[in-house]
This record gives sequence, C-alpha cells and structure tokens, in this order.
Amino acid sequence: MLVKLAVLFSGNGSNLENLIKKLHKKSFGKNEFEIALCLCNKHNAYGIKRAKKLGLETVIIEHKNFVSREEFDSVLVGEIQKSKADLAVLVGFMRILTPIFTQNIKAINIHPSLLPLFKGANAIKESYQSDMKVAGITVHWVSSELDSGKIIAQKAFDKTENMSFEDFEAKIHALEHELLPESIRKIFE
Ligand code: GRF
Repeated sequence: MLVKLAVLFSGNGSNLENLIKKLHKKSFGKNEFEIALCLCNKHNAYGIKRAKKLGLETVIIEHKNFVSREEFDSVLVGEIQKSKADLAVLVGFMRILTPIFTQNIKAINIHPSLLPLFKGANAIKESYQSDMKVAGITVHWVSSELDSGKIIAQKAFDKTENMSFEDFEAKIHALEHELLPESIRKIFE
C-alpha cells in the first residue's frame, strides 16, 4: 500500500528532515511511504529550508491570518484532506488544536517527555530540571486534550548527574529521530 503522510511543523524541523530521509519514497514490507504534504504555520521556520533542500515544498498557512482557532483548523483540515494523507504527523507543531481538527484528522504527535509527565511547550526544560532520574520521549495519538491522547510508544534514558542541558536535549532529539519513523512504520504494518 502507498501510505501518504502529512507532516506539520512550526520551527526547526529536524524531525521533518529525518522523516523525509528515512521514510519518503522508501518501502518497508508491503508499504511504500510518501510525504504528500509538508505544512507549516510560520513563514520563516527553518524546517521549510530543510524540506526544500530535500526536494519538498512546504504549504504555509499562517495562523495569525485567521480570526479564530476554528477557522485556522478548518483550512488545515482542508489542506490535509486534499493531500489524501492517511496520517498526519505533528513534529513540533505549536498550535492548540480544536475539535474541528481532532475529529476530522487521524494524527500522531511526538512529545519530548515521558507523558503524562511534563505536558506542554516547556517539556524538555521541565524534565531536565526535575528530580527524576530518567527522562524520555513519547509518540501518541492526537486527541482533543493537549498531549493526552493514547500512547503509542515511549523511549526512556538515564539522566546522569553531570549531564548538561545541551547533552540532554541532544539525547531527546536523537531518540525522537529513531522512535518516530519506527512508530509510523508499525502503525501501518
Ligand atoms: C521536538 O522536540 C518534539 O518532541 C516537540 O518539538 C520538537 C520539534 O523539534 N514536539 P524539530 O523542529 O523537529 O527539530
């Protein structure tokens, strides 16, 4: 089966780049993956350049041009449906989604903590600063409540005493780059 993905991002785009490199036009068993849509809500996001370098254009829909979340979401939904994506993948897409999105689009999200701990936009910092001895990442289904949908997969690592914030963040991203493509492949197996 040809599996079409829509990838939504807002900034740096390292996960987007990783997905393009690992899944786009690649076959695993009987599935071939195609990133049918790159979608971003910020015109100056670095991820747009990353995708372009790899031959993919990004559709930019700026949320600030809409008067309500619902109006923005209905345009997003339209664009994703037009792409015929089987799954939307949120990789640092910094928007709170309304039911207009969550009830119409099958989507997963990658979050840089061991959910249900450290929901929200400051997960990496909060998890680094916590007293916990382990940290990690989560891939989960997107639901109407922020960072709260059913968990698909997690990876944890030991947080050592002398680990700098930079090392901690790099570890998180390295794990994300393994777990997200692996999780997407498994969803369609
Ligand atoms: C990742 O840490 C992801 O878990 C979070 O946003 C970050 C996006 O990073 N949701 P990048 O833009 O893919 O580099």
